[in-house]
Amino acid sequence: MRDARTMRTKVLIRRAAIERRVREVARQIARDFKGQRVHLVGVLKGACIFLSDLVREIDLETSIDFIAVASYGRGRESTGQVRLLKDLDSSIAGLNVILVEDILDTGLTLSYLLRVLRQRRPKTLRVAALLDKPAQRREEVQADYVGFTIPNEFVVGYGLDYAERYRNLKDVCILRTASR
Ligand code: IMP
Repeated sequence: MRDARTMRTKVLIRRAAIERRVREVARQIARDFKGQRVHLVGVLKGACIFLSDLVREIDLETSIDFIAVASYGRGRESTGQVRLLKDLDSSIAGLNVILVEDILDTGLTLSYLLRVLRQRRPKTLRVAALLDKPAQRREEVQADYVGFTIPNEFVVGYGLDYAERYRNLKDVCILRTASR
């Protein structure tokens, strides 16, 4: 793993653009589920900031829960394995569930989570991902709501981390080694 001190960040998506897009996605969700309740399930930890902004913009009855998985180690490469670290607090049977993800990369995490959640008989199950990085996809999965489609770069900020750092950046930034 590279030494975090030699890394530099470059803004990819500015906070104002994120704010605007989160509002648009929320409006789309409100249109799609007009008159109904939606239950947002955030995938910890990366989606916590996206979820907290998104839920406040959805003009419907809402509820939230969180699930935690480990799909990456402390570095930037996928291990190819997904493990459940924290399960939901309550049943999702009969609910309109929207799984809220920070980023869709290989699709391994999402495909695992969809399998787990489908078994629990939600009324509907949709996916909202802030970012979609289609270049690395290994599983045939898609999000119903995508904030931004991005190139094959490692990004941090707005909840996304590198070895637990950078989650607090307000913009989504590309993380590169200083020599690149
Ligand atoms: P996937 O299973 O490969 O689709 O990866 C999903 C998870 O990997 C995300 O929820 C992130 O936690 C992490 N991840 C994938 N790409 C990035 C990235 O560019 N920056 C930070 N985390 C990432």
